[in-house]
Order: sequence, then structure tokens, then C-alpha cells
Amino acid sequence: MNTGLIHTTVLLHEAVDALLGQPLPAQPQTFVDATFGRGGHSRLILSRMRAQDRLIAFDKDPQAVASAAQIDDTRFSIRHQDFCGIDALAPASVAGILMDLGVSSPQIDEPNRGFSFRFDGPLDMRMDTTRGQSVAQWLTDAPVNQIAEVIRDYGEERFAGAIAKAIVARRQERGPIASTTDLAQLVADTVKTREPGQNPATRTFQAFRIFINAELEELQHALEASLNVLKPGGRLVVISFHSLEDRIVKQFIAKHSRDEYDRRAPFAAPKVMKLKALGRIKPSAAEVAGNARSRSAMMRVAQRTSA
Ligand SMILES: C[S@@+](CC[C@H](N)C(=O)[O-])C[C@H]1O[C@@H](n2cnc3c(N)ncnc32)[C@H](O)[C@@H]1O
Repeated sequence: MNTGLIHTTVLLHEAVDALLGQPLPAQPQTFVDATFGRGGHSRLILSRMRAQDRLIAFDKDPQAVASAAQIDDTRFSIRHQDFCGIDALAPASVAGILMDLGVSSPQIDEPNRGFSFRFDGPLDMRMDTTRGQSVAQWLTDAPVNQIAEVIRDYGEERFAGAIAKAIVARRQERGPIASTTDLAQLVADTVKTREPGQNPATRTFQAFRIFINAELEELQHALEASLNVLKPGGRLVVISFHSLEDRIVKQFIAKHSRDEYDRRAPFAAPKVMKLKALGRIKPSAAEVAGNARSRSAMMRVAQRTSA
């Protein structure tokens, strides 16, 4: 394990301001950092919290959880669990939830994790290396239609069918694809037109990562759970890094920010809104200049109503 790899936190002050930026009642408050990573947001939250408050962090990556041992603060605890685990917190008990989605730089930059086509490594891509299947294991017998569907739906890749067929043909001829560079080369050989400045394998790698980690399903589940655990006035702050995630967050906030009428009972009172949308923020030009990985970030903020 390369413990020297660092993560530059995206929208650090903006996210923590949005989470804590309102006068807190005197009673102890609980905050949740649902995606600890290397703790950039958690450390700033702790520095801004009061002595009586507490911070519960989650991360499904054991290396992220191990790195949290550096935080020596009795107000802090971390759980090695996917963030759907927030639904086990007491109803209406949490004053703010932060989700900084996707992968951390240490995950991408460590060749052994298999997230990047830039390095040669095993084709793994699991955030939680203690359970589930790696991408290589899944590709050993996944049906061609499923592979194509994953690449199309999660990578928005025009050549999904051709790439899926090439993966299956290669596995029949020479055995399964086991490494990142093998996959990147196969995609480059199959995808004939390239988007300027983008590696042809970008979309396929994104698709496989989202699929193998059930990223969109877990996001949807955790957002729904947040409605139950946030107390009235509590904040939901979500930073996403691609349009599929952002669409889910945007639609979730929009759905719960308007009164819902039941079409089958047109005269019944509407279900009242559970969230108030507080807005969205993108990184400044200065942040993008200093950290290229922030360029696709979008942060959305909502507040739990008393409904
Ligand atoms: C972008 S990084 C977070 C960086 C963090 N905010 C910081 O400043 O260091 C995302 C982290 O969330 C974790 N993660 C992603 N999806 C998760 C999920 N469904 N449940 C728990 N952790 C998740 C990843 O393992 C990764 O460590």
C-alpha cells in the first residue's frame, strides 16, 4: 500500500460552510461525513464544530478508514461501511450530511487498485477491497449484452456494443482481461474516433467503476435515507463529479422540494415538501487551475424542512 498518496479536497470551504454555516442550537449536534477519503472535509468540520458536537464518518475503502487513525479527537468516529449505513442512524438526529462522491486521488493513483488506465495494474476497481467482485472477475463470464449495457448506461459510450464484443472475443481467444493496460489497449483498438484530449478508454473505465461499486444505486439509497435521519433545518451537501451522479442528486432534490399532488386524488391536500433547495456551486477558476480533478465537480445543497 502506498500511504504517501494524497488527496486534494474539492470545494473544501464551500462544502463545510454549507454544512455548518448557520447558527447552531446550544444542544449537541451530530454531523456525517459520508465519504471520508483522506479526511480533508472531516478535519475542517472538526475544527469548526463545538466541544459538544460529534462527527460520524463513513468510507467503504479500508485504506481510507485506516488513514482515519491519524485523527485523534473523541468527537470523531469512523465506520467501514458503505454510506447506505446512514439509514441506521436515529430518525431526525443529524444536523448535516456531506457526500463528496466518487474516487479519491489515492485510489486513482495507486496502480494496484486498478482504477486508472494511466498505470499498469490488476483490473480491480473495487472501493471496498474486502468484498465483492473485481472488474476482472466479473469480465471472466459476464454476458456480452450485460457488458454492453454497462458501458452504454454508465459510460455513455457510443461504441459500447463493439467494445463488449471485443472483450468477449478476446476472452475466448486468449483468456480473460486481467490488467488495466490490457483493457485500455483493447478499447483503443476498438474505438476508432477519439474525443480530443480524452483517452479512448475513459468512458469504459468510468462505466466499469460505477457498475462494480454499485455507485448510483448506493447514492439513490443514501439520499432517500438522508430524508429520514436529517433533523428539520439539517443540511444535505452533495458534491458529484459526472452527469449521471449529478442528475440523480438534482432530481432527488427537485422531487422533494415541491408539493406532490396525487393524480388519483386531485382534491386531496398535497404531500408537503421535505427539502428546500439552497442552490449549487462549481469550483472557482482558481481551484480548477490548482486541481484539475475539480473541474467536473458540482455541489448541490438542500435543507430538510419540518414536514
Ligand atoms: C472524493 S473521495 C472523498 C474525499 C474527502 N472528502 C477528502 O477530502 O479527503 C470519495 C471517498 O468516498 C468513498 N466512497 C465512495 N462511494 C462510497 C459509498 N457508497 N459508501 C462509502 N464510501 C464511499 C471512496 O472510497 C472515497 O474514499
